[in-house]
Amino acid sequence: MPELTTHISQAEEKQSILAAIVNNSDDAIISKTLQGIITSWNKGAEALFEYTESEAIGKHISLIIPPDRYAEETHIISEICKGNKVAHFETLRVSKSGKVIPISLSISPVLNAKGEIIGASKIARNISEKIKIQQEKDQLYNEIKVLSNKKDEFIAAVTHELKTPVTALSGSLQILKRYISLEEKGLLIVERCIKQVDKVTFLINDLLDFSKAQTGLLQLRPEVFDITGLITDCIDLFKGETHHNFKFDAATPVQLTADRLRIEQVLINLLGNAVKYSPAGGLIKIDVNEQADTVSVSVEDEGIGIDKEHLDKMFTRFYRAVNTDSNIPGLGMGLYISREIVNRHNGTIHVKSEAGKGSVFCFILPKNR
Ligand SMILES: Nc1ncnc2c1ncn2[C@@H]1O[C@H](COP(=O)(O)OP(=O)(O)OP(=O)(O)O)[C@@H](O)[C@H]1O
Ligand SMILES: [Mg+2]
Repeated sequence: MPELTTHISQAEEKQSILAAIVNNSDDAIISKTLQGIITSWNKGAEALFEYTESEAIGKHISLIIPPDRYAEETHIISEICKGNKVAHFETLRVSKSGKVIPISLSISPVLNAKGEIIGASKIARNISEKIKIQQEKDQLYNEIKVLSNKKDEFIAAVTHELKTPVTALSGSLQILKRYISLEEKGLLIVERCIKQVDKVTFLINDLLDFSKAQTGLLQLRPEVFDITGLITDCIDLFKGETHHNFKFDAATPVQLTADRLRIEQVLINLLGNAVKYSPAGGLIKIDVNEQADTVSVSVEDEGIGIDKEHLDKMFTRFYRAVNTDSNIPGLGMGLYISREIVNRHNGTIHVKSEAGKGSVFCFILPKNR
């Protein structure tokens, strides 16, 4: 007999713990019969739907369902009858004062001692705050998108306006250079001016390409060419300008159909970065690998490398992994434009890198578009 008493008191204790949990929950916890008659109603339900326990018990659950959502109840009951749970179902319910409340519902079958389904218990969580935060986020996102589009339009307009005078300036300097004899001091100054104007022209062209990439207007003019020859030409552009060593073995030509000028642009971007981000110098290794349908080109340096946290964002527009106070110049456009060019060729571009150990940028192009 004492054993049975212990058993009963343990069961009672468990029951009262469960009752306390249900009662003190901030969520509304309700149970109902399969006919929809409310059989229990906790404090959370009183606070959320404004009906007291005695007002709610014995009433039909449609008490809190907006009329245009009655069909939901039929669906929920049919799922419960099959023994299924309904989890995190987002819907609306209505309180005693007529307030429409967005809620997340989780409903499970209630079984009797024989294991038969005799009703349902549901937990309703008020998600007004969550929805408000989501709406604020959406609004902020839309505002940022509008501002970002305005910024892109502004960049496109300014670049367009800059292009004409800078082209005229560049042409005039070339003509002026022809009028100055080799001995004159002025020649050195004009040559310096030409170099600086060339830099501005590069920047304007990058900005124009950036705007074209943004609007999907980056045009391709495909032709057949040998990419190893193009790589050798690009390396030559850098050789006189930097103390880095270049290693490229152009043993056999590799033909492909692509926009030569655009691929040249990608190579110049990658080689330029390899030089720029290895300020201590070192080796820059270029490899070409020909497969049946594709060609892959990799540019490897021994420079500062890239921290893991930046790797997946490298090809995003205006993204720079270096500190803003670093004295390495750049706008973060080169890789964005390069990826657009490679993608337009149905190719891919990726990076492997480790901070302090150097980087490998590799792009793969189909041989025939
Ligand atoms: N070889 C590299 N080694 C280390 N970091 C690199 C390398 N290439 C690119 N990065 C990092 O990726 C960022 C983006 O490169 P990207 O070429 O797009 O821009 P940028 O060189 O900063 O400027 P821009 O190309 O417009 O002159 C760089 O700012 C740099 O932090
Ligand atoms: Mg760059």
